Amino acid sequence: MDKIKKICCIGAGYVGGPTMAVIALKCPNIIVNVLDINKDKINKWNSNDLDDLPVYEPGLSEIIKKVRDKNLFFSCDIEKGISDAEMIFLAVNTPTKKYGEGKGMAIDLKYVEDSARLIAKFSKESKIVVEKSTLPVRTAEAIEKILKSENPSVKFEVISNPEFLAEGTAIKDLFKSDRVLIGGHKTIRGAEAVNALVEIYSNWIPNEKIITTNVWSSELSKLVSNAFLAQRISSINSISALCESTGADIDEVSKAVGKDKRIGPEFLNASVGFGGSCFQKDILSLVYLCKYYNLREVASYWEAVIKINNYQRNRFSKKIIQSLFGSVSEKKICILGWSFKKNTNDSRESSAIVVSNNLLENGAEIHIYDPKVEKERIVSDMNEYWLNQNIKTGLINEYLSRIKILKNSKDAAKGASAVCVLTEWEEFITIDWKLIYKSMKRPAWIFDGRNILNGEFLKNLGFEIYQIGK
Ligand code: NAD
Ligand code: UGA
Repeated sequence: MDKIKKICCIGAGYVGGPTMAVIALKCPNIIVNVLDINKDKINKWNSNDLDDLPVYEPGLSEIIKKVRDKNLFFSCDIEKGISDAEMIFLAVNTPTKKYGEGKGMAIDLKYVEDSARLIAKFSKESKIVVEKSTLPVRTAEAIEKILKSENPSVKFEVISNPEFLAEGTAIKDLFKSDRVLIGGHKTIRGAEAVNALVEIYSNWIPNEKIITTNVWSSELSKLVSNAFLAQRISSINSISALCESTGADIDEVSKAVGKDKRIGPEFLNASVGFGGSCFQKDILSLVYLCKYYNLREVASYWEAVIKINNYQRNRFSKKIIQSLFGSVSEKKICILGWSFKKNTNDSRESSAIVVSNNLLENGAEIHIYDPKVEKERIVSDMNEYWLNQNIKTGLINEYLSRIKILKNSKDAAKGASAVCVLTEWEEFITIDWKLIYKSMKRPAWIFDGRNILNGEFLKNLGFEIYQIGK
């Protein structure tokens, strides 16, 4: 097979944008077209103002500046993008189903199916289709079926290449991946397709880090990787509750446990709970898959990871209410941090959404500040959350009237009874806490949902402080 010279990616989101930018940078001989149906998003990717890109990631705008309009292009012309490409990456969203069979658990494959139909429609010559989205095992089979039945005259080879980047460190992760996983069918054409993709990655990833497997192992390994990572967080969070009852300190326990090489120190930071668009949806997808294959015990084992995450978020909210003499009604509570982790503008499934809802339900007024998440996004996160919970419009409007979004921590904390740190942004460690203390009601509480603050220092300033597992 000749070397691949033209690729495209359907989906210009948190995965499609950064991964394609890095491929374009590392493979100057490949033309990379990133396609999306969302015009606003494509306009933002093409914007001259590099602070206005739809995805905030450290290091991303520098790459875009170097390669955009040289060998990296963002466009809504899906027909041309597909018909020109030899290899097509699918990086569309795969949310949890909100309706019908599998509601609240299974993955909604609508966007994947739509994309497969577009590929079939606009392809005139043979194509390699690469699953980059995270998908339930055997989705490749469904994609193949659509492609073959819609366009029997063209040969398609579907391979799996799940993405392991984490938001906030996406560029670093893409430059130095722990591994690149490529799954293909054990046929001559399957092997050729896998090799074509291996060749692309070989431009910057050492060969020993490129793992090839069959398609189903590749699809499943992605779900399992996320499940294992989330399981570690729920494990440590469950122990944080025990620490609070016994006088043990979760950071000390985590350090001691993580020193065991077999366990390792990563992903053992206790927190208000994990967020992000993927952990919950991917575990739910795994659970659904287990139930589908009638593996009830396996399903409930993984379901527990999500139960503990919900428990931790609610436990944190209850702690705030209890500490403020059993009621937050008409009290001002400041929320510092809305994104689900630092260094991203992504707030999907952020724990801040659940904690804010719990506080609003209890009558609080909440004042929010985040360095990167836009005001509109915060409001739409809450709206979406309430609509999913079937909350009536009247009540939603009443809740919204008790939310204020401010431009800095100082303004958000003014007159508050408590400050909740829900994202580990560096600036929350270094802000002038003395000044914040002066502007707050007494007793002035800090609820550190990330254990990033120096508790002793803050106590000395006069604060009451709650940290997870302490
Ligand atoms: P996203 O929502 O940021 O981006 C998906 C994009 O696909 C959207 O811009 C949407 O408009 C576009 N799209 C949907 N249907 C389309 C169609 N028919 N034609 C053209 N464009 C279409 O999602 P994301 O966070 O980039 O995630 C994409 C996939 O990657 C998911 O399966 C996710 O589980 C997986 N993943 C995400 C991350 C992450 O950090 N976000 C990491 C690894 C894997
Ligand atoms: C995660 C995985 O780390 C990626 O490998 C994967 O590709 C991605 O999901 C995906 O499939 O979408 P991401 O969700 O971007 O990446 O970020 P993480 O660093 O994993 O953090 C997830 C959540 O867990 C955040 O809310 C974070 O604050 C929380 N977390 C993380 C903890 O509470 N404690 C920890 O020790 C680590």
